[in-house]
Amino acid sequence: MENRITIRDIMIDDLDDLFQGVKADCLYSDPPWGVGNLKYWRTMNKQKDHTVNWNSFIDRIKFLYERHVNGPLFLETGMRFEADLESVFGKADMRYVVKYGSGNKILPCLLLVWGARPQISAEGKKGYDVPYSALSSYGKHPNIIFDCCVGLGTTAKVAKALGSACFANELNINRAQRTMKILDFVVY
Ligand SMILES: C[S@@+](CC[C@H](N)C(=O)[O-])C[C@H]1O[C@@H](n2cnc3c(N)ncnc32)[C@H](O)[C@@H]1O
Repeated sequence: MENRITIRDIMIDDLDDLFQGVKADCLYSDPPWGVGNLKYWRTMNKQKDHTVNWNSFIDRIKFLYERHVNGPLFLETGMRFEADLESVFGKADMRYVVKYGSGNKILPCLLLVWGARPQISAEGKKGYDVPYSALSSYGKHPNIIFDCCVGLGTTAKVAKALGSACFANELNINRAQRTMKILDFVVY
């Protein structure tokens, strides 16, 4: 299966062009964390005054997950946002505390999983390690891994290592272009 990418705002686009009726085997993403981070990514995308709504953003991830995925959901988030995600997706089946940052600025953050029980080391580090261990150990080989907010492409790197196709979306064209250097993507 080809790797696919779209450069769309998930608040207003259902990503039907990306999927064209195909379903992904899982959704793995590190989406924005809360209202401040949503504003930050809008500013990075030259949309400083764009309105943001954290609850609506989580609802959109749920909509895309239910529309395009047959399989588990993996979301990285900050400790403060767990309750917000669980209020929309229900209680996570698995909750992993992983390390975020480096040097003397290491903070805990979370990987929440619905619909699978992967094996992840307690020492896992946010970045490549965590999605690699989660996606390689959840019990099924994912043919298509979907990331609705792919950023600079960590999920694409993991898909490449696993021999899976990556279906990716990103708001910011500059970030999407960096992800496109990781894999051969067809742009939809
Ligand atoms: C924490 S970063 C993702 C990090 C990613 N795991 C990586 O490897 O770089 C969150 C991403 O969500 C994107 N994003 C924010 N709002 C979005 C929206 N409405 N639609 C699509 N992507 C969005 C941002 O541009 C940013 O690249």
